[in-house]
Amino acid sequence: MTFVPFEMERWQSIHEHAVDLNLSESGVHPLTLAELVELADIERGALDGLLLEYVQSNGGQLLRERIAAIYPGAAAEDVVVTNGSAEANFVAAWDLAAQGGEFVFMEPNYFQIRGIAENLGVPVKSWWLDQPSWDADLAALEELVNEKTRAIFVCNPNNPTGRCFGDEFIAGVTAAAERVGAWVLADEVYRGAEHHGEETPSLWGSYDRVIAVSGLSKAYGLPGLRIGWAVAGDGHAERLWARKDYTTISPSALSEYLAGAALESRARIALLERTRGILNTNWQVLQAWLEERADLFSWRAPEAGAISLIEFRREVDTGALAEALRRDESCLIQPGCQFGLPRHLRLGIGPPKARLEDGLDRLARVIDSTVLADEQGVGS
Ligand SMILES: Cc1ncc(COP(=O)(O)O)c(C=O)c1O
Repeated sequence: MTFVPFEMERWQSIHEHAVDLNLSESGVHPLTLAELVELADIERGALDGLLLEYVQSNGGQLLRERIAAIYPGAAAEDVVVTNGSAEANFVAAWDLAAQGGEFVFMEPNYFQIRGIAENLGVPVKSWWLDQPSWDADLAALEELVNEKTRAIFVCNPNNPTGRCFGDEFIAGVTAAAERVGAWVLADEVYRGAEHHGEETPSLWGSYDRVIAVSGLSKAYGLPGLRIGWAVAGDGHAERLWARKDYTTISPSALSEYLAGAALESRARIALLERTRGILNTNWQVLQAWLEERADLFSWRAPEAGAISLIEFRREVDTGALAEALRRDESCLIQPGCQFGLPRHLRLGIGPPKARLEDGLDRLARVIDSTVLADEQGVGS
């Protein structure tokens, strides 16, 4: 079997620390350790005395209780703490793949689970959101799901569209799954990063075969802690934990401690407010930039996440454009060709405002010198 690489992650990991400006990130500008210590009122002595041991491998009791508190009806036993939501997705997809059958995968999406499934030899059917509204076609989902479907994978709020889906979506997805006894894995890592501040409902609690995945990387601005989690009922968390014994054993002791402090209710609210402030300020910047170029792009305003998906109104090689921007202007963006949308760009709106403005200036220069110059050349 040919190995399918994770093209988007590799593009980011090679270049994100080498460029001046990174607009490829989907989370807000991270906090420093000092900012987190202040915001969460952490005592310096507590950090100095922290034992750098292996912690409880599914996550310590306090952290699991704080995570469970975000999900009504969940208990600490329903939670497995992982190294990023990426590990939660991995152990869950690995476990579901071992049960046989097919996966149904919402698209557009973050391609991690699709790649894992393909690399494990699991057949994957794509369930595409409608373009350009990015509405969810629940009737189409019903048609895709059959007795072979082992699991439906959704991302809500969605990467890369920034759409948030509510109760009707949850009812439709769980009804389709329940009809055939399939699992639903809901990657909810952007939950809490809604621009309007109203938290997207979790799929948790809507059906007994739901695995809700999330973490601190996006809505909380703490990707370097590498703390994620899966919440799953009826002893299923235990199954995921058993898989995790083979991957990374336990979270880092330092990250677990800091994550516990970040999820204390007052600190959690402050972190989410910080995120919302950045997103609302920066969306205004991007929106103004787009409105000046409405003949070039179409877009739907994102509802959540530090991401915005914009579409060229004409054929453009977005891979070549992103490469020219990186090479000539030291600025990184995410070309849509890496996630099945060759005319789209995904732009991160999480950096400090001045850096976003600088990055957009550089993108405008490259568009002028490539896309628009080519067109003028053709016309002349
Ligand atoms: C939808 C989605 N899920 C999971 C991840 C992995 O994030 P992390 O492991 O940092 O929580 C990402 C990262 O971009 C993502 O966009």
